[in-house]
Amino acid sequence: MLVTDTVILDGITTGVSTGSDPEQISRKSVLINMTSQIVPVITIDGPSGAGKGTIAQNVASELGFHILDSGSLYRLTALASLNADLDLTNESAISEIALNLPVVFKPTSSGLQILLSGKDVSETIRKEEIGMRASKVAAIPAVRDALLARQRGFLENPGLVADGRDLGTTIFPDAPLKVFMTASAEERAERRYKQLKAKGINANIAALVKDLKLRDEQDANRAVSPLKPAADAIQIDTTEMGIDEVTQMVLDLVKQRLA
Ligand code: C5P
Repeated sequence: MLVTDTVILDGITTGVSTGSDPEQISRKSVLINMTSQIVPVITIDGPSGAGKGTIAQNVASELGFHILDSGSLYRLTALASLNADLDLTNESAISEIALNLPVVFKPTSSGLQILLSGKDVSETIRKEEIGMRASKVAAIPAVRDALLARQRGFLENPGLVADGRDLGTTIFPDAPLKVFMTASAEERAERRYKQLKAKGINANIAALVKDLKLRDEQDANRAVSPLKPAADAIQIDTTEMGIDEVTQMVLDLVKQRLA
């Protein structure tokens, strides 16, 4: 199948999940297992702040594909478990939360709105402390299991661009194109700093570098689905590259791999 034949140029399509009916999700994943050979999926993995989300959005928008920001599911689990006052040692209760996340991803003219139990948490889940808790929650094997079917549930025609840490290794191991995107910790912190500044949020570069390195270390050293490139992933170091250049590089790879 030629992906370039199916290009829809205006706007990004987005996976929408009501997420509250695990039975519905598992029915859907059965269906997806049956069709996963024909729905193209592009995985973009890598450490925090490497620009995966921006590139995934650009590529999905160019191709008219759906998008999965898998990190948001771990962030939502972190936030919901914090709201429920759950200790991180309460793994069964946290994985129950992950399994039944009442989340809706709602496309709007200004981007994707993320509703948790009907409340807009799009900004809240991006906070550094939620990212750090997400990294701890993500190390719980039962949480990863609970989110597996939900992530595969985003796979729909005409295709999916999925970003995270283990999309190429665990969630979509048969993906025809896997990208592993990196950048130096200093460059990633600088990008995060600029994003936060643009939103009027005060930040400190040294603290951001420290947080990113700590999160990378936690993500790379956990026992289940650690952060690492799939054996067949194409690695792109974006430290010296601009967004347009990386987007074009991935689109060129799509042409080669999905033709
Ligand atoms: O990508 P993002 O920074 O939003 O992810 C937040 C955290 O969620 C990561 O630090 C990582 O611990 C976890 N995560 C994961 N597997 C994924 C996506 C995110 O473990 N596929």
